Amino acid sequence: MIREHPRFQKTAIIFVSAIQVNDLDLLRGYQLGAVDYVPVPVIPELLRAKVKVFAELYRKTRQLERLNAELENRVAERTAQLARANAELEQRVEQRTREREEALAQVHEMRKLESLGQLTGGVAHDFNNLLMAVLGNLELAKKYLRDQPRVLRLIDGAIQGGERGATLTKRMLAFARRQELKPEAVDIAKLVDSMIEMLRRSVGPAVQIATDFETGLTPIRVDPNQLELALLNLTVNARDAMPAGGEVTITACREQVGAGDVAGLAPGEYVRIGVRDTGLGMDEETLRRATEPFFTTKGPGHGTGLGLSMVDGLVAQSGGVLRIESRPTIGTTVEFWLPVSAARDGCEPEPSGAPLRVGEPRSFRVLVVDDDAMVAAGTAAMIEDLGHSVIKEQSASRALEHLSTRPNIDLVITDYAMPGMTGSELAAEIHRVLPGLPVVIATGYSGAPEETGLPRLNKPYRQQDLAALFATLTPLPAALSISRAASAGESESIGVLGN
Ligand SMILES: Nc1ncnc2c1ncn2[C@@H]1O[C@H](COP(=O)(O)OP(=O)(O)OP(=O)(O)O)[C@@H](O)[C@H]1O
Ligand SMILES: [Mg+2]
Repeated sequence: MIREHPRFQKTAIIFVSAIQVNDLDLLRGYQLGAVDYVPVPVIPELLRAKVKVFAELYRKTRQLERLNAELENRVAERTAQLARANAELEQRVEQRTREREEALAQVHEMRKLESLGQLTGGVAHDFNNLLMAVLGNLELAKKYLRDQPRVLRLIDGAIQGGERGATLTKRMLAFARRQELKPEAVDIAKLVDSMIEMLRRSVGPAVQIATDFETGLTPIRVDPNQLELALLNLTVNARDAMPAGGEVTITACREQVGAGDVAGLAPGEYVRIGVRDTGLGMDEETLRRATEPFFTTKGPGHGTGLGLSMVDGLVAQSGGVLRIESRPTIGTTVEFWLPVSAARDGCEPEPSGAPLRVGEPRSFRVLVVDDDAMVAAGTAAMIEDLGHSVIKEQSASRALEHLSTRPNIDLVITDYAMPGMTGSELAAEIHRVLPGLPVVIATGYSGAPEETGLPRLNKPYRQQDLAALFATLTPLPAALSISRAASAGESESIGVLGN
């Protein structure tokens, strides 16, 4: 009965017996829960000693149980700690893996954009050459068809198409960061002020345009025409994002950027320009891909997807950085930093290349060097139509060969990017042997280094650009004219670009 009670299951029971117990009785007693026997008459010392032993045993057992429980607790705590550490480690490994994957994806994205840039730049460059030939020849064809108004209209349509193609190539070159830039000190407030009417016309009456410029902003160094184009692209994007109308705000403020303040921006003084709208905004995927070339959500025929990539390319090529913030249904802010100009006194254009002097109109002998026979032929046709004579060569070495035997040339127009020797290397070689002979570099992108100081023709150039170039040629000083003419065995004087 005692044993059945849960509290006394482990209690030591000493049987006190008055009768003589045999082994069988002892065994039965033990089975019933006895731990010991004391015969009657009870010897108190004996009973006390036995109780003491059992009490001691009980105490030790409790102590052992406590120690055991404590140990179990500690093991459990340690196991929990280990489990926590393990989970933390797993989380860290997961985070590192995610970071690594993100970094790899970023590198992949950058490589993709880089190769896309190279590809786009290459295609745009070749396309530019094709357009040169198309536009040049169409313009000449117009001259021979003055009495056929219907054909002239068709040609005008073709020229318009070609010009749109030229605009597209420029945007592609801008994305590839290979467009020809003419950076100047630009007062952003003045520039926006001068184009605000045009911007208002482009967005229509439903969209308000506001400006918010810090007063006394330092001029920035950027190509003003390209910056105008960039602001137009951004404003048109804002308009497209506000089909029911809204507000576009153009902002500009000065910012001193420290190391690591703005990702990708070198420390220095900048002006931060922003175009903010209250439009539909972009979802995450669109925001991530917005500056990718040819990425558009506007559907076929409505967007080329080159607007933002043009702006991004221009900003990067000008030493700045572009950032887009956008929240669906709230709106978008496109911001970019542009470095301030070192020339602080006024915003006059900084001189670029050698100025050309105006001379008397006369007939020149022009050596045209271009590895693209179609471009060379187009240029030659335009020059001949202006009343000058042309010799065409397809490489720098052939041009030098020609000049070594027949130096009676008044002007060399050379392509920049040619296999073997570039246009500027050719110019250096020409100036070594024929120091007075003017050389003009024709190029469609910024591959040609600025510091050559050589005059340039921007592809695709038109007949009027060539005419303007010839108008700047002036007769050679007598001495140079005589020595060159003598070596050429001719008597006509030769033009030179003044500087
Ligand atoms: N302000 C804006 N608000 C919402 N979405 C925008 C905004 N600006 C750009 N986007 C998104 O980014 C995409 C790419 O813009 P981008 O200017 O490069 O090309 P596009 O406007 O589609 O074409 P294009 O500029 O040739 O007309 C747009 O199609 C649009 O989805
Ligand atoms: Mg656009």
